[in-house]
Amino acid sequence: MALPARILVKKPDELTHTEAAALPLVSITALNSVRYAKSLDRVLVLGGAGGVGSHAIQILKARGAKHLTATGSTKKLDFIKGCGADEVIDYTKEKIEERTDPEFDFIFDTIGEATKVPHLLKTDGIIVGIGGPFTIEALQEVREGTGVLTRGQRMFFGLFGPLLNLLLGGTRLNYNVRYYTGDYGYFCTFAWGDRDRMQDIVELVKAKKLKPKIDTVYDLKDAKKAMEHVESGRAVGKVIIKVADP
Ligand SMILES: NC(=O)c1ccc[n+]([C@@H]2O[C@H](COP(=O)([O-])OP(=O)(O)OC[C@H]3O[C@@H](n4cnc5c(N)ncnc54)[C@H](OP(=O)(O)O)[C@@H]3O)[C@@H](O)[C@H]2O)c1
Repeated sequence: MALPARILVKKPDELTHTEAAALPLVSITALNSVRYAKSLDRVLVLGGAGGVGSHAIQILKARGAKHLTATGSTKKLDFIKGCGADEVIDYTKEKIEERTDPEFDFIFDTIGEATKVPHLLKTDGIIVGIGGPFTIEALQEVREGTGVLTRGQRMFFGLFGPLLNLLLGGTRLNYNVRYYTGDYGYFCTFAWGDRDRMQDIVELVKAKKLKPKIDTVYDLKDAKKAMEHVESGRAVGKVIIKVADP
């Protein structure tokens, strides 16, 4: 397989090839997202047990998160704690969106529920969401959640809303969306990486601040099973498909 050198780094000796395969997508997604945070004093991760969540917790702690809360289901709480969360919330017992105090500086949403929690942000807090429907309905939910839209944004949605809805309505896309308290923006970007970002991952591994969290390794012949497992949305860490023995 040929790849451009500008996106490659040498695998750190600390990791097997299988472990190394677990890191790039999820770590780059988390690293890209954390760049938008203004403060990491109090952080909330929605969905701490999945591929992105389990690595994002480690990266956020490594980047200085002082107190990190993460959500997960009952059986996964110990795993989430093991990733470095200071506090875990069992979402089968408590709905975090029912809290009323603005207590978080940064919210990282991996489950597509960012529109339910803008009221939990402190002033100047930021939400980055990486999965969920990119629809005008979602935009409107955020607007209702925060109650603020700038004049420019109102004009934009007035003019282009119906067109965006037509183009994107109902489509499930991977996106990164940032909500700001006050005058917030809504942006759509995709996971991207380059050698510098990959090198950041290697440095975190070498500093023992980032460990691959792997759910299951499937052989290539079982790729269908692997995809079904991912699609179940129940993974604990990353699902890997082994193409060949390195
Ligand atoms: N924008 C980007 O650049 C980018 C990059 C990578 C991934 N993504 C997207 O990000 C999303 C997450 O990816 P992933 O690989 O981390 O998924 P995943 O490995 O399938 O993780 C799903 C996890 O979410 C948990 N979960 C489900 N509902 C939950 C809830 N209500 N509250 C808390 N936890 C809940 C599940 O745990 P339970 O079984 O306990 O519910 C499971 O551990 C996907 O939509 C993916 O497409 C976007």
